[in-house]
Amino acid sequence: MFLAHIAVVFGALYSVYAFPSSVQKRAVDFFNPVTTGGSMLDNAGSGGGEPLNVIISGLSSPAVLTDDGIINYAKAIRFSTECLGQHLGDPQSANLGDGNGPVNQTVELREDFGDPNLGTCLESLIGGNHFRIFRQNGPTANSGALFLAVSKEEDLSQQHTIVPDGYNIGRNELVNNALGTTSFGGVSYTTVAKNITGLLAPGSTGVNHGIATDGITTLLVVTIN
Ligand SMILES: *[C@@H]1O[C@H](CO)[C@@H](O)[C@H](O)[C@H]1NC(C)=O
Ligand SMILES: *[C@@H]1O[C@H](CO)[C@@H](O)[C@H](O)[C@H]1NC(C)=O
Repeated sequence: MFLAHIAVVFGALYSVYAFPSSVQKRAVDFFNPVTTGGSMLDNAGSGGGEPLNVIISGLSSPAVLTDDGIINYAKAIRFSTECLGQHLGDPQSANLGDGNGPVNQTVELREDFGDPNLGTCLESLIGGNHFRIFRQNGPTANSGALFLAVSKEEDLSQQHTIVPDGYNIGRNELVNNALGTTSFGGVSYTTVAKNITGLLAPGSTGVNHGIATDGITTLLVVTIN
């Protein structure tokens, strides 16, 4: 009887330590949004969504996962904030299943064509790669991971629609720019990638503009050297 009570007490303590308070940041790559009522497609406001096809792991260096940190990293991999702060199109939202419900993108970054200040204006005119960022930091799934909706766009004359196969192409280009050692603003990064299937369904169901994808999400772990 006494031993049984001890077991119950230890069991309770174990649960407390094994499943710590939900507000604490958890040391994981990310939590699958789908298992807790979220989605791996954002809401583009058109009835469809863009695939969240790149995840920057919660196990990355913490400084990379802040607003300033991700903008510096984006510059290191040849993206920059939008052309002179000008914003084309409405923000999109995503539900990352973390208890925050749908949340607007924190920032949208565009390919800078080698010039972090003016290059994004070029992207707005001639098209190119861009991404939106959503942070998984709600009370029930606080990984700190950043979920990116990456796509390659047509030029402005095409109203910024996505090029054919633009989600897969955008993801692959971003990952290729990111892999290995990169640097910007005196910060040097090492990035490793791993492809994950089973988060996004391959095909075009629910996807904005009906553009099919291969269903791959690439997980990046970014470490400051
Ligand atoms: C996102 O931003 C738009 C425009 O600022 C706003 O109307 C909308 O309510 C926001 N959505 C969410 C989910 O916060
Ligand atoms: C992930 O998949 C894409 C598309 O098939 C491929 O081009 C890329 O090399 C893969 N990356 C890794 C790290 O396996």
